[in-house]
Amino acid sequence: EIYFNHTLYNQTPVASTNYDRLEASAKLLLPPAAYDYAAGGAGLEKTVAANREAFDHWRILPRVMRPVQPSRNLTTRLFNRTLPAPVVMAPVGVQTLFHPDGERATSKVFGELGLPYTLSTASSTGFADVAASNGAGNPRWYQLYWPSDDDLTRSYLETAAANGYEVLVVTVDTWDLGWRTRDLDRGFFPFINGVGVQIGLEDPVAHQKLGFNPLAANATAEQKQTAALYHTITTSRGVSPVWSNLWKLREVWGDKPIVLKGVQSVEDAKLAVEWGVDGVILSNHGGRQIDGAIGSLDALPAIVDAVKGKLTIGFDGGIRSGADIFKALALGADFVQLGRPILWGLAHEGEKGVRHVLRSLLAEFEITVGLAGCVSLQDVNRTLLVES
Ligand code: FNR
Repeated sequence: EIYFNHTLYNQTPVASTNYDRLEASAKLLLPPAAYDYAAGGAGLEKTVAANREAFDHWRILPRVMRPVQPSRNLTTRLFNRTLPAPVVMAPVGVQTLFHPDGERATSKVFGELGLPYTLSTASSTGFADVAASNGAGNPRWYQLYWPSDDDLTRSYLETAAANGYEVLVVTVDTWDLGWRTRDLDRGFFPFINGVGVQIGLEDPVAHQKLGFNPLAANATAEQKQTAALYHTITTSRGVSPVWSNLWKLREVWGDKPIVLKGVQSVEDAKLAVEWGVDGVILSNHGGRQIDGAIGSLDALPAIVDAVKGKLTIGFDGGIRSGADIFKALALGADFVQLGRPILWGLAHEGEKGVRHVLRSLLAEFEITVGLAGCVSLQDVNRTLLVES
């Protein structure tokens, strides 16, 4: 059994242990376009802000005088695995924007700790390379931007399964890009510029459809550009996924878990149960899709009340501290995902910075669980929260 506690955080910090200071120093290290791509959201960024504010709508009401020493058991059962903590890497594309080691660094650190790593379809590193850096036997998930081309979809899923990715996360909120004003103002579109589409570029079915291999030594600049655009089109842009096509994924993926990421309404969570998926991830894509969408944590209680126990409920959006992880789990999420904090860590010396951020968040979470009077995650529930 693995325990996380502050004795595990025994390294010299390579960056601040406070999120706001971490982001500030990452900003100084990154090219402005990369920083804005990650920090930014849709429109006036009201939902980016709402994701943070939602955590202030709840305060922790701790219990005391309970036998919680020496350390708290954070283990969790998730999709047929026992995990050391219910903390997962959110799918984030084009990570080489933030450090040359990109997905290799993030997947390595999540693998070291035995926590699930989700590979994005928009990854700048391919299935096999990420599997190798993540490490044999570690929990790996694959996030699909569902292509409109069924052959390509099948090929992606087969390659994912062959490389040991065991949970399929289908992102359903980004079939077209939101109105991301920072990127629009800069004319910065990593996918269209051809950065970080490695999975599509490597795919044998994509090569057949294109009639050439854009990664071959003799591929022309024009062919590479065509391939980048083709990939942009086939990774679902402009074609909304629909419930009635889910069977196509099930046919290829078999009975391994399928999770829908980007669900916000109770009605959709209920439909997910009806259509037989294994989980939903409550997410508004970090406020990057619909400006004015509900703060993610504000949508959690109703979804938990409607579907808890019928499928697995993941959560992301605005988790910045161990206390934030505590609040999301106390409201009933089965697991949480980390996005931007890990990217800011990555900007600080790659792997070292990722390890610093992940370990310090886990340590802070573990301390919070104990100080709130809990021995294990079974004790973390809504009686420890008050609305404010
Ligand atoms: C994302 N996110 C995302 N989601 C997804 O399903 N596929 C992807 O490729 C990406 N790419 C991506 C890039 C960047 C730079 C960011 C910041 C986010 C969304 C991500 O999985 C998650 O939903 C949010 O990051 C959660 O919000 P916070 O906690 O990071 O603010």
